[in-house]
Amino acid sequence: MGRLDGKVALITGGARGMGKAHARHFTTEGARVVIGDVLEEKGQRVAAEIGGVFVRHDVTSADDWAAAVAAATSAYGRIDVLVNNAGILRHAPVTEMDPDEFRHVLDVNLVGSWLGIRAVVPVMRDAGGGSIVNISSIEGIAGAAGLSAYSASKFGVRGLTRSAAQELGPVGIRVNSVHPGGVMTSMALAAAQTMTGVDGSGFLKALPIARFAEPVEISRLVAFLASDDASYTTGAEFLADGGLLSGPGY
Ligand SMILES: NC(=O)c1ccc[n+]([C@@H]2O[C@H](COP(=O)([O-])OP(=O)(O)OC[C@H]3O[C@@H](n4cnc5c(N)ncnc54)[C@H](O)[C@@H]3O)[C@@H](O)[C@H]2O)c1
Repeated sequence: MGRLDGKVALITGGARGMGKAHARHFTTEGARVVIGDVLEEKGQRVAAEIGGVFVRHDVTSADDWAAAVAAATSAYGRIDVLVNNAGILRHAPVTEMDPDEFRHVLDVNLVGSWLGIRAVVPVMRDAGGGSIVNISSIEGIAGAAGLSAYSASKFGVRGLTRSAAQELGPVGIRVNSVHPGGVMTSMALAAAQTMTGVDGSGFLKALPIARFAEPVEISRLVAFLASDDASYTTGAEFLADGGLLSGPGY
């Protein structure tokens, strides 16, 4: 018996990193998985590996959302779970960031998640319910120098999560947010290269669990929230940060 037996999940940004790990883990837990991404070749490879469906899907496009929902319902007849995982990070001080870049980060990380909720709710509601997991970050709980756009978008995801939970609880749809700390993916590696002047070893020293997470360590939490084991949990925020935000680290 898998935790997600019989469920159909749509996972955004599933071509690599955590999205790929979620797709793999959900499949081992019994779910049928549709992944969306702007990276077509990688996405196709992941879908082939897990026996799922890939759809080219830019989360900032309402039309792409409609196509992704249609792909999932035509392949599997329903959508029980949405994981709003796709995201981007841009590092620059406020005074040096182009306003269009700030807007773009909000568009992908926040508006993309809102569009996703808007697109899947009618299908979930008609089927009697579902679970939406929004991937925020520790930067959705605390700010960080050089990450004004990313942090603002991830704080926004918390507000979106709570409001959607209030609105959708009565129709059986739960909405929660997950807040990973440092996870070994392309995003973390790229951030380490662009965030010059940040002491990476200081980050690790401040961690009670003094290492980066493997993506699957986040996938297990996401799968729990997606599953009926979390049936009384909505509008809540879940840290998976190695204890980073539990105290000042001295
Ligand atoms: N890696 C970390 O340390 C970390 C920590 C906290 C939160 N997160 C969050 O976890 C999520 C996954 O990040 P990751 O580390 O796996 O990063 P990643 O860069 O490896 O993967 C992100 C995926 O999203 C896709 N994507 C980007 N823009 C898209 C768009 N407009 N439409 C559809 N897909 C798009 C990318 O192509 C990529 O496949 C993100 O929301 C990120 O903000 C990451």
